[in-house]
Amino acid sequence: METALSAERLEVMQHVGKDLDALMSEYLKPIEENWQPTDFLPDSSKDNFFSEVKLLQESCRDLPYDYIAVLIGDTITEEALPTYESWLMDVIGVDQVDNPSGWSRWVRAWTAEENRHGDLLNKYLYLSGRVNMRAMEVSTQFLIADGFDIGTDRDPYRNFIYTSFQELATNVSHRRTATLAKKFGNPHLSKICGVIASDEMRHAKAYKAFVSRILAVDPSELMLALDDMMRKKIVMPAHFLRETGVKMGDTFAHFSDAAQRLGVYTTNDYIEILEALLLEWEIGSVRDLNEKAEKARDYLMALPGRLKRIADRTRIPELQYEFSWIK
Ligand SMILES: [Fe+2]
Ligand SMILES: [Fe+2]
Repeated sequence: METALSAERLEVMQHVGKDLDALMSEYLKPIEENWQPTDFLPDSSKDNFFSEVKLLQESCRDLPYDYIAVLIGDTITEEALPTYESWLMDVIGVDQVDNPSGWSRWVRAWTAEENRHGDLLNKYLYLSGRVNMRAMEVSTQFLIADGFDIGTDRDPYRNFIYTSFQELATNVSHRRTATLAKKFGNPHLSKICGVIASDEMRHAKAYKAFVSRILAVDPSELMLALDDMMRKKIVMPAHFLRETGVKMGDTFAHFSDAAQRLGVYTTNDYIEILEALLLEWEIGSVRDLNEKAEKARDYLMALPGRLKRIADRTRIPELQYEFSWIK
């Protein structure tokens, strides 16, 4: 990012984060009061542990293949938290060395909440008896070791747009896996996916609020950042999933097919999230824009319609792929 723009971004970040304490208490939960993975899992220190695990395994026996595949992909992407945290720590305005009580505090606290998601799902899948844990762990290690470029640069605007989008997308997918678990006769798993989904919604509200604040002080630059992100398409972290011996990108394609077949996360959801964000940020009525940003606004407002026309033509493969993750 060029120096003049960087300096402006830094100033805006200081402005948006000036009441960080209030933002943290509004959008994050006190650690002692927050749920922990253990609250939803059999207690291994109790005598009834093995009988509870037996019941858990029985309730997972009939979960469909696609469903297990999606749950594993969701778990791996949640387990790759170190990747997101390290990316966000490098964003302009986040400075853990010189300003440890500023935005870096938010990044740490958000990561700490998120860390529970992978932890809970991982332990549940381990107990379920349906998963080749070693293959799943290899994919997790790959995802963290590979890292990924989500196209946001060190730009806080692009990063907060990305996280707004991504938190909404994970809310949708965890919410749907919750609904499906109930449908497949597993209310316990439904509850697990449900509590994770509600965290994601709370996080989405936070990032959307940050973007709104930026929009209020720097509308043209925010508009251009949003335009750039949407032209490139928001690439979900799952995109970079990798299995042993499988070409990068291929595993994601199969994972995404499974998610589309189940209706857990579809092309249509992508469009609906975009529409929700355009509405939330009142993009259509943002004024005081420079010429380039005005064009960007018009492009963005026409984008959902254009994407819908393309989505109608895409077909989801029927064929199931055999993941190394599933026994
Ligand atoms: Fe999460
Ligand atoms: Fe999240």
